[in-house]
Amino acid sequence: MAPARRIGILTAGGDSPGLNAAIRGIGKAAIGQHGMQVIGFRDGFRGLAEDRSVLLDRRLSGILTVGGTILGTSRDKPHRMLVDGDIVDMTSAVVRTYQKHRLDALVCLGGGGTAKNALRLVRAGLNIITLPKTIDNDVVLTDATFGFATALDIATDAIDRLHSTAHSHHRIIVVEIMGHRAGWLTLGAGIAGGADVILLPEIPYRVESVSEAILRRVRRGSHFSIVAVAEGARSQEDAETYREAESRKRAASTPDEERAAVAALAAVEAAHAGNTLRLAAQLEALTGLESRVTILGYVQRGGAPSAADRLLATRLGSAGADLIDQGVFGVMVAARGEGTEPVPLERVAGKRRPVPLDHPWVLAARHVGTCLGD
Ligand code: F6P
Repeated sequence: MAPARRIGILTAGGDSPGLNAAIRGIGKAAIGQHGMQVIGFRDGFRGLAEDRSVLLDRRLSGILTVGGTILGTSRDKPHRMLVDGDIVDMTSAVVRTYQKHRLDALVCLGGGGTAKNALRLVRAGLNIITLPKTIDNDVVLTDATFGFATALDIATDAIDRLHSTAHSHHRIIVVEIMGHRAGWLTLGAGIAGGADVILLPEIPYRVESVSEAILRRVRRGSHFSIVAVAEGARSQEDAETYREAESRKRAASTPDEERAAVAALAAVEAAHAGNTLRLAAQLEALTGLESRVTILGYVQRGGAPSAADRLLATRLGSAGADLIDQGVFGVMVAARGEGTEPVPLERVAGKRRPVPLDHPWVLAARHVGTCLGD
């Protein structure tokens, strides 16, 4: 009898609800349907570089509904890992661990950055598939990423709760929602929660447009407003400064120029910290209404996955096990309609999916009179 095939699993990047459901989906399908053995690696790519392994066969029960990841995660990159204070290329250590465990394939659960790291390892000779995970929903060529649906529910619930207190105190409440450089979470929760203003990274805003929208509401008798602002949203002036810093970085042709451009971009990003607090103060000054800030932060990533995320993670995970069985590697398992589809990692790696300006959600928000700040 041929020896059982062995697969490894790791979770990389920020955690998100549904990771354990996906680990269970792959693991149970790999073992139950295909007779494989399943090994987990702790703390993302670091666990692979440092061989922090755990046999998962007996650990897959009871995790479907559990938040976080039983494997732990990290943002470490195989080719640039901090080791004893130095940045080291650990690719060959990763390959050694893969070979030592006689893996036939490795499954990496993560977003666009994880796909980029996975592609590097594919080029180093490993058989890899990835599953799209992130609350930001910004992975290209998949209908959805798991984690997003749960975070959307959490952020919507928060906006619902903020409504009653904003209304009672006749205040503006500015609620900051995660999403990195994409506005999916803010737009979705803003629409579902009935925010009066929604500010997205994709649509740089004018603070005067926002204050005018709030004052129009006051004139109609609504002395409160909810402003849902994405963590990556910027004013039109800040967006211009950011664009210039980015294009300087792209244009840099010497190491010195690149270093200077990277430092300038970091300074622009640092200046963005506190943007939501500044926005609330500006709105208070422009409207005369008291303003308060709520930063939802990591509650959006914590806790049990929603039914939608459990379902998505389970079907992507089990489809992933089938692809490995068929010998299909170097792909992300994308959600496509009711089904799934393998998409070459080259088409996913390092890319981001912003909200298109003509997306039906954007149009729907505008049509119900929501101010998008432009
Ligand atoms: O990608 C998920 C996410 O939560 C983003 O929305 C957010 O910008 C980022 O991770 C926060 O990263 P960290 O966990 O490293 O603070």
